[in-house]
Amino acid sequence: APRRKKIYEGKAKILYEGPEPGTLVQYFKDDATAFNAQKKATIEGKGVLNNRLSEFFMQGLTNIGVPNHFIRRLNMREQLIRQVEIVPLEVIVRNFAAGSIAKRLGLEEGTPLPRPIVEYSYKNDELGDPLVPEEYIIAFGWANQQDLDDIVSLALRVNDFLSGVFFGVGIKLIDFKIEIGRVWDGDFMRLIVADEISPDSCRLWDVKTGQKLDKDVFRRDLGSLTDAYTEVARRLGLMPEN
Ligand code: C5P
Repeated sequence: APRRKKIYEGKAKILYEGPEPGTLVQYFKDDATAFNAQKKATIEGKGVLNNRLSEFFMQGLTNIGVPNHFIRRLNMREQLIRQVEIVPLEVIVRNFAAGSIAKRLGLEEGTPLPRPIVEYSYKNDELGDPLVPEEYIIAFGWANQQDLDDIVSLALRVNDFLSGVFFGVGIKLIDFKIEIGRVWDGDFMRLIVADEISPDSCRLWDVKTGQKLDKDVFRRDLGSLTDAYTEVARRLGLMPEN
């Protein structure tokens, strides 16, 4: 019998009821999916690496005052988080062209963008997370203008923090995705960073060689995903042998 109630199961993570009201346990699976789950695999050890890496980034954000859902890591695959109401958007920040923007605009991957670009996809698996303008977001009530201002501000603070941390270990942050959650203190609603920050949701290139150290290794069959994520963790000083 399961020792606790499953609240939600996604492609790479499971959420369980937490020990106290307003908390959840986030479990990191070894499963990897790409192209809206058309490509699937189990990658030994990915969950352990992403649990540790997401802990590291969320704690770093807490240290610089960026509110997020992380409370504490519980074990190799699980972390305690604040329960939030997820805003149904994938918030993407791009520093260099790659992936869908490179394709859409005919840009060579790696082209520097004139400034960080924030864009939104509507979280909907059946539709394949379509890109949506602010106009849609506000019209359909997924967020209001104030929320969007706060979301852009959070996204850019996360970008500054992550870009600096990665650059310090010889990695270029090409782009990343975050999710945002709503929490209430009485009547007062706040937006915080939720979900995960890991090489599953970033593009990370070695500064010198351009080697990819992110989920594109899996998407494009470029080698061992575990080796790539282990290298990221090693550079950040998160591997036991360091
Ligand atoms: O595919 P695209 O270029 O739009 O992805 C931009 C960034 O957002 C990449 O770092 C990718 O890993 C991330 N992403 C994600 N989850 C999605 C879509 C994109 O983490 N469903």
